[in-house]
Amino acid sequence: MTQEKWTKVDQYIANMLVASDPVLDAVLQTSNAAGLPPINVAPNQGKLLMLLAQIQNAHSILEIGTLAGYSTIWLARALPPTGHLVTLEIDPICAKVAMANFELAGLSHVIELRVGHALDTLPKLATKGDQFDLIFIDADKRNNPNYFTWALKLSRPGSLIIVDNVVRDGAVIDTTSNDPSVQGVRRLNELVAVEPRVSATAIQTVGTKGYDGLLFARVIA
Ligand code: SAH
Ligand code: DHB
Ligand code: MG
Repeated sequence: MTQEKWTKVDQYIANMLVASDPVLDAVLQTSNAAGLPPINVAPNQGKLLMLLAQIQNAHSILEIGTLAGYSTIWLARALPPTGHLVTLEIDPICAKVAMANFELAGLSHVIELRVGHALDTLPKLATKGDQFDLIFIDADKRNNPNYFTWALKLSRPGSLIIVDNVVRDGAVIDTTSNDPSVQGVRRLNELVAVEPRVSATAIQTVGTKGYDGLLFARVIA
């Protein structure tokens, strides 16, 4: 199997099952025009996030890593009118592009974007006593263990924690890797493996975004 085939099948799936969407098309265009990297989730993955948030009946969602707001918009579309989503982004340029995109999507009223290092913002959310029904971790991979630890503090029994990019072309099984991103994913798995408060699994994915994976952890206590 090749990247070319994965891409074609992803396009086929998107054509069949993910309705074409002028808002999300414009989000990717503004992202590209601003020079941001195309590391948003794929359309079929974005829709998966929305479906999971709906299945979860999520009223509160936390996202770590906004970029241009592509995944944010998919997640926010799952919310009821009274719901809210907090998204954390370190880069002010990304934040500016994302804010304009939330406006374009008509979702500014449910989305709160906090600019800064997520590890500075997460303790503030915890102090406020915030709890989230779904948490999507998709920022700097070296901090995945820290983000997972904060996600647990910001959860309740029944919350769903999702982590993107946990396979990285298979690099995750390289025990000798010096790449901080790979080490971050491996340490995340080690934490999750011994954490009695979650029930977790991970799946490998292929498609337009290459060979990667998603981790799902349901908070059980
Ligand atoms: N979730 C987005 C993609 C996010 S890419 C989507 O699928 O559409 C990762 C993002 O995390 C980048 O925008 C990057 O600037 C941001 N990021 C990196 N380190 C961060 C940190 N320490 N705190 C908050 N955001 C961070
Ligand atoms: C990178 C980050 C992501 O969130 C992603 O989905 C793909 C790549 C990166 O930092 O390279
Ligand atoms: Mg990602």
